[in-house]
Amino acid sequence: MPSHPAEPFRIKMVEPIRLPSRDERISALAEAGYNLFSVPAEDVFIDLLTDSGTGAMSQEQWASIMRGDESYAGARSYYRLKETILEIFGFEYFVPTHQGRAAENILAALLVQPNTYIPSNMHFDTTDANLRARCGRPVNLVNNVAFNPSANVPFKGNMDTVMLEEWIKSTGKENIPFGCITITNNAGGGQPVSMENLKAVSEIYHRFGIPFFIDACRYAENCYFIKLREPGYSGKTTMEIANEIFSLADGAWMSSKKDAIVNIGGFLAMRDEGLFQKVCNELILREGFPTYGGLAGRDLEALATGLLEGLDESYLDYRLKQTAYLGERIKEIGIPIIEPTGGHAIYLDAGALFSHIPQNEYPGQALVAALYIEGGIRGVEIGSVMFAHKDPDSGEMIYPKLELVRLALPRRVYTQSHLDYVADILKSIWDQRDSYPGYRIVYEPELLRHFTARFQPV
Ligand SMILES: Cc1ncc(COP(=O)(O)O)c(C=O)c1O
Repeated sequence: MPSHPAEPFRIKMVEPIRLPSRDERISALAEAGYNLFSVPAEDVFIDLLTDSGTGAMSQEQWASIMRGDESYAGARSYYRLKETILEIFGFEYFVPTHQGRAAENILAALLVQPNTYIPSNMHFDTTDANLRARCGRPVNLVNNVAFNPSANVPFKGNMDTVMLEEWIKSTGKENIPFGCITITNNAGGGQPVSMENLKAVSEIYHRFGIPFFIDACRYAENCYFIKLREPGYSGKTTMEIANEIFSLADGAWMSSKKDAIVNIGGFLAMRDEGLFQKVCNELILREGFPTYGGLAGRDLEALATGLLEGLDESYLDYRLKQTAYLGERIKEIGIPIIEPTGGHAIYLDAGALFSHIPQNEYPGQALVAALYIEGGIRGVEIGSVMFAHKDPDSGEMIYPKLELVRLALPRRVYTQSHLDYVADILKSIWDQRDSYPGYRIVYEPELLRHFTARFQPV
């Protein structure tokens, strides 16, 4: 039996949770069109839908809430956040946004022209959709090993730099308004990117004159992976590692609902003053005045505190070990997961677990439905429901290489016994795996269909 790390905090306030009866779960799921996003949270026992905005804030963060300055312009809380962002990320210019996708929307509105290409290791779904909404073409150039779930390599989020360079030459740098990398790589299993790879990617983008932006949602977990796994970094602090990472980039955006452990918030930061002016104009149109950007002063204050707490090494050590603990328990059952375990989540290989369900009947959706019916557990499909799309040129359906289900761990929220319960439910699903049906879609919107699609069992 793997061992669970001791939490570097104790519990001061509790929130009751309830396991509805099996009959209640069956009818709640049917009523939700078999889409877990539509199930009321009160009907969920263990909620592993996302690690985004679901963390438990600390006593310091709650104290920060009380210190929030709610002035419309130039609030003290804005300047505190500005200082913190400068200290960690080194970007002189930034705007707060209400969350990560708002930053993506602004960047896409300003930089993406129709039929231009935007490379990354793997774009997350909201990034992908924001680029497509501006008729841009997101391109994923992650190292091929990312598609081998069992390959146990330390930096599976790395970009394929040989492919990147060749691809830029054949696409033409004039057709690439900016390049990105996502740390850690959420869509590919929460896998980290090495400093060596970040340096190589930065060098290539800059050699071709392409601005480099980092999607920094889980940068602190990535920093700690670098400290643990990359030669030459064990003696550096996570702050020093973060400073080094962001010195390589021209800008970054962050959904701060992840590694800054706040319930709402984000930002878009950059070095270029000209771009900053345009960003401010766009922000005023869509989010709010540049010193609050759609957030309250108290949110800015909690974010500044949370950014620093998110880099705390005793917290990060516990965090990565807790995720690894759940991964080990699931592997003991025999269920394949993406290896090694990433920072924020376990990615179950639903395609392998439900090998009797074809891709067009959504094995990942079948697994999230089974988890809810068997145990009131909520996970999220990261497979064909989320990513299958029509090729704009041929009209053919393109399916992703992996059919995954993500069990994301909210920060500082669940204990060892919650995770043991999840492993026990997975064991009972494993024991009767051939009995679960696939699903078909009966309603879907044009973009980001996984949030609101409705399904029927086949
Ligand atoms: C890598 C990545 N980028 C961007 C986003 C979008 O952030 P938000 O949900 O705050 O809009 C997410 C959210 O999960 C993410 O994981």
